[in-house]
Amino acid sequence: MQQGSSSGHASGKLPRHVAMIMDGNGRWAIRRRLPRVAGHRAGVETAKDMVRLCGEKGIEVLTLFAFSSENWRRPEEEVGLLMDLFVAVLEQQVKELHENNIRLRVIGDRDALHATLRERIQEAESLTGDNSGQTLVIAANYGGRWDCCQAARRVAQRVKRGDLAVEDIDEEAVRRELSLDDLPEPDLFIRTGGERRVSNFLLWHLAYTELYFTDTLWPDFDRGAFEGALAYYASHQRRFGRTGEQVARMQGV
Ligand code: IPE
Ligand code: IPE
Ligand code: MG
Repeated sequence: MQQGSSSGHASGKLPRHVAMIMDGNGRWAIRRRLPRVAGHRAGVETAKDMVRLCGEKGIEVLTLFAFSSENWRRPEEEVGLLMDLFVAVLEQQVKELHENNIRLRVIGDRDALHATLRERIQEAESLTGDNSGQTLVIAANYGGRWDCCQAARRVAQRVKRGDLAVEDIDEEAVRRELSLDDLPEPDLFIRTGGERRVSNFLLWHLAYTELYFTDTLWPDFDRGAFEGALAYYASHQRRFGRTGEQVARMQGV
């Protein structure tokens, strides 16, 4: 769906970066009278489909919210099962990601993660780090507020070392310390599961992202549903503060 294709608005292009809140696994399972973890397992299949679809379409970066800094509040059993699932998925999928030239990055506070999980993440990132195809970002124990705090700490350290003057702290100085640093900002945000909220996901980065919410539960989010989100994106003019006329002129429309 490149610019000028019949499938979208002339000014709408394919997003370079899509960020997704994978919500609704628990309700999907409960409706089927299954344990919540069955929903999380089904959700992994959707996540794999999305990685494949993004590759097919040429979307450069896919960021998936897998576990928030607030999800520790869930019952211990569910948290444990989610962590085990994460380790298992990494072990099973890393080879395939690597074969497909995909670079994996994990964002979030790793200190609280189990040592085995930390090791798997480290191995996966170093194996795939030089891959030049898509980038898959998994947000695990991630919180947008945590990200802002850790960036603030790093900026403060630069000031303390004498590498940066207080007057020179600008958006660029903060942005480069945030978790997604060199990656393009998300163009499209998708939240499944019916809630219209950001739940402490990428707070800084979503400043100008197109927000798309759908009632579809994550395990049911399929190719057709994703196409719907891409069509929504393609039909919206991104103005970044300018007028619609200015943007049209810039795009030669
Ligand atoms: C999202 O699905 C997955 C995680 C937060 C790990 P939920 O588990 O939040 O599903 P619902 O919202 O209870 O249906
Ligand atoms: C957001 O979903 C976090 C992830 C999908 C990992 P939640 O289900 O935790 O969000 P809230 O609690 O409904 O806001
Ligand atoms: Mg939820």
